[in-house]
Amino acid sequence: MAKPVLKIEGLHVAIDGREIIRGLDLTVQGGEVHAIMGPNGTGKSTLAQALMGHPRYEVTGGSVTLDGEDILSMEVDERARAGLFLAMQYPSEVSGVKTSDFLRAAINARRGEGKEIPILQFIRKLDAAMKALEMPQEMAGRYLNEGFSGGEKKRNEILQMKMLEPRIAILDEIDSGLDIDAIRIVAEGVNSMLSEELGVLMITHYQRLLNYIRPHFVHVMMNGRIVKSGGPELAERLEAEGYDWLKEELGITFEQEDADTTVRQEA
Ligand SMILES: Nc1ncnc2c1ncn2[C@@H]1O[C@H](COP(=O)(O)OP(=O)(O)O)[C@@H](O)[C@H]1O
Ligand SMILES: [Mg+2]
Repeated sequence: MAKPVLKIEGLHVAIDGREIIRGLDLTVQGGEVHAIMGPNGTGKSTLAQALMGHPRYEVTGGSVTLDGEDILSMEVDERARAGLFLAMQYPSEVSGVKTSDFLRAAINARRGEGKEIPILQFIRKLDAAMKALEMPQEMAGRYLNEGFSGGEKKRNEILQMKMLEPRIAILDEIDSGLDIDAIRIVAEGVNSMLSEELGVLMITHYQRLLNYIRPHFVHVMMNGRIVKSGGPELAERLEAEGYDWLKEELGITFEQEDADTTVRQEA
C-alpha cells in the first residue's frame, strides 16, 4: 500500500454563511503525526468536520485531496472508504444501535461490497482491540455511546479507529475529559497503529497529550488559519508561556466574549 498523502490547499469553510476557516494549507503524509493547537473557537473542529464532510460545514474555497483524489466531491461514506477517519470531540449517542453492530457495518462499508469481514475474524479483531483499550467486553453489546461516560466515548472513538484502520486519522481533542490513566491507554492505542501507512492529524488544546503521542509537526491555528508551524518545542513553549508572545509576534489581538475566545487579525 502506498503512503497516504492528504493535501489541503487554500481551504475556506463557512457555517451559516459565516466564514470560519480562512485559507488553510496543510499536508499530512503517512508516517507523520501533526498536532493542531490553538485557542477555543479558532476553527479546529470546523476543519475536522469539513474534512469529513459534515453537511453543516460549507466549503467555500480551496481544495482537499487524498492521494491526488478530490475528497471534497465525495460523500461521507466515500471519504471513509478512501481511508479518512474522524474521532469526534463530541461523539453522538445512537440509541437502538449496538456498538458491535455499528462497528461491523462501518468496517464493511469501508471494505466495500463483496469484501465483508467474516464474522469470526470480526469478533477476534474486536476482542483484541477492546482488550488493548482496556474496555469491558459488555460495552460492545451496549447501544452506541448511550450512557457512556466522557472517557468511555473517547475510548470508543479509538476503538473505531483500531477497527477501521484508516489511512488518515483526524483526532479531535481525544484527550478532553480523560484522566491520566485513560489518556495513556488511548495514546497507546494510537501509537500502536503508527506506521508509514497512517497519517495522523491530532487536534488538541493541551500540550499534555503530546507527551504521550509525540508529534513530528506542531501547528498553531488562529482566526481560521495556521499562523505558525514548528516541532514539538513549539507546543512546549505554548504550554509554558501561553499564546501572548505569539499574538504579539504576529500582530494579532484577542477579544474575550463570554467564555469563548474570538480572534481578530489586524491587516
Ligand atoms: N455547528 C455549528 N453551528 C454554529 N456555529 C458553529 C458550529 N460549529 C462551530 N461554530 C462556530 O465556529 C467557530 C469555530 O468553532 P470550532 O471549530 O468548534 O472551534 P475550536 O474547535 O477551535 O474550538 C466558533 O465561533 C463556533 O461558535
Ligand atoms: Mg473543537
